[in-house]
Amino acid sequence: MEIIILPTPADVARTAADAIEEQVRRGPCVLGLATGSTPLGTYQELIERHRTGGLSFAQAHAFLLDEYVGLPSAHPQSYHSVIRDEFTASVDFGADAVHGLDGMAEDPQAEAEQYEARIAGAGGVDLQILGIGTDGHVGFNEPMSSLGSRTRIKTLTRQTRQDNARFFDSPNDVPDHVLTQGLGTIREARHLLLLAMGEAKAEAIAAAVEGPVAAICPASALQLHPHVSVLVDEAAASLLAHRDYYTDTFGRKPAWQGL
Ligand code: GLP
Repeated sequence: MEIIILPTPADVARTAADAIEEQVRRGPCVLGLATGSTPLGTYQELIERHRTGGLSFAQAHAFLLDEYVGLPSAHPQSYHSVIRDEFTASVDFGADAVHGLDGMAEDPQAEAEQYEARIAGAGGVDLQILGIGTDGHVGFNEPMSSLGSRTRIKTLTRQTRQDNARFFDSPNDVPDHVLTQGLGTIREARHLLLLAMGEAKAEAIAAAVEGPVAAICPASALQLHPHVSVLVDEAAASLLAHRDYYTDTFGRKPAWQGL
C-alpha cells in the first residue's frame, strides 16, 4: 500500500484524476467507478480535462461498484442516475460502455453472477476508484463481509443508512438492501485508488491502513492487494500513526514510478 497524504481535498481530486487520465490515455481500458461524495471532485476534474484538455473516454468501459436494491435506475438516488449525472453524461463514454447493477432485478443473485461475468468478459477492471464508509466499508461491503466475497446482496448497517440519509428526502427512504461487488471482486482490479477526505473518515482510514486485516474493517482487505494507492487529505490522515514515514517516502519517490 502506498499512503499519500495531500494538503487539501482538491489535491486528492487532482492526483486521482492524474492517475485516471494516465490510464485512459494509454488506450482502451476498464475503469471501476464509485459513487458517494468522495469522488465528486475527481469527476469534476476529469470533466474539465475532457472539455478543455481533449481527454476522451470513448475507448473506456466503466463498471459501477454497487447499487441500491429496490430503486429503479431512473430514481435520482440510484447509483445508475448518480454516476450519469455526476460524471459519465458529461464526458464521451460510448453507448452501453457504462455498466451497473440492476437494483430491480427479480433474482438479485442471478444479477450478481451476470455482473461478475460482464466484468470478466470486459477483461477485468484496470483502475478501481474507491471511497470508504465511516464503518470501513468499501463498495457496500459492510463489516464482517468475507474478504473473499463476490458480487451479492447485502444489508446496510444503521450507520451507513444514517450516513447516506442526506441524499434522500427522509432517512426511512434509504433502502435496507444493496447489490455490491464483493471484496474478492474488488481485489481483482489491477490498481486500486482509495480516496478519503475529512475528519469523519480518519478512524476508518487508520483501521484500514494500519490495523489488522480483519472482516470487521472491510477496507483492511485492501492490504492484501499488490497495488493500492491511498490518497488522503490531512484531516483523513490525522489518526495515522506513521504519517511522517508515508510523507517522507512519497517525497523521495522517483517521479518516473508514477502511482
Ligand atoms: C457509500 C458507497 C461507497 C462510498 C461510501 C462513502 O455508501 N456505497 O462506495 O465510498 O459510502 O461515501 P461518501 O463518499 O459519500 O462519504
